[in-house]
Amino acid sequence: MSGRLRVGVLASGRGSNLQALLDACRQPGFPAEVVVVVSDREAAPALARAAAAGVPAVFLNPKDHADRAGYDAALLGCLAGHGVELTCLAGFMRILGPAFVRALSGRLMNVHPSLLPAFPGLAAQRQALEHGVKVAGATVHFVDEGVDTGPIIAQSGVPVLDGDSEASLAARILVEEHRIYPEAVRLFALGRLRVAGRRVTIDTEGGSP
Ligand code: GAR
Repeated sequence: MSGRLRVGVLASGRGSNLQALLDACRQPGFPAEVVVVVSDREAAPALARAAAAGVPAVFLNPKDHADRAGYDAALLGCLAGHGVELTCLAGFMRILGPAFVRALSGRLMNVHPSLLPAFPGLAAQRQALEHGVKVAGATVHFVDEGVDTGPIIAQSGVPVLDGDSEASLAARILVEEHRIYPEAVRLFALGRLRVAGRRVTIDTEGGSP
């Protein structure tokens, strides 16, 4: 549908955040649409979710490329080929190189299962449990060249309960991921996110995304 922000999603696994974005995009009046889903894993359930939603699902095999720069260039080509205006990482478990990040600067988002800057990188929920924090949560942020270091768009906290396992905490955090990621995309699509250094603020009036 024309006039809606064209979103590309990169996902390596289960794809529940992808599903939250696909579901949001189906709501009447939502100002964005997912136009392509790309995965580095052929068997990723995310690709099946995309196909089920009628969205082009692309497997880009890292083994077909000599190095990360080559793979990243192929990813960029795929996104450009689908006219993607905003790229959302949704459980994409490959590190993206600086050239990729620079090319999409300000147009690349990620969701992470911690209250950043706490617990970046892998197994954030386990890191939170092992550290003994009482509040954990989810973060949506713009991606910069660091690991989970970019300007924070939205966060939501959840309690860590005494009996929590990694799985129970992850499930509680995931509910918040599914809520704040589509909201961040909506605000971006409406041109309401302003970035000044590390700070992202939300305009009450829309601008151009
Ligand atoms: C989500 O919890 C996401 O925050 C996390 O992977 C999971 C993917 O689940 N991402 C990271 O840890 C990135 N550092 P999903 O495939 O069901 O969306």
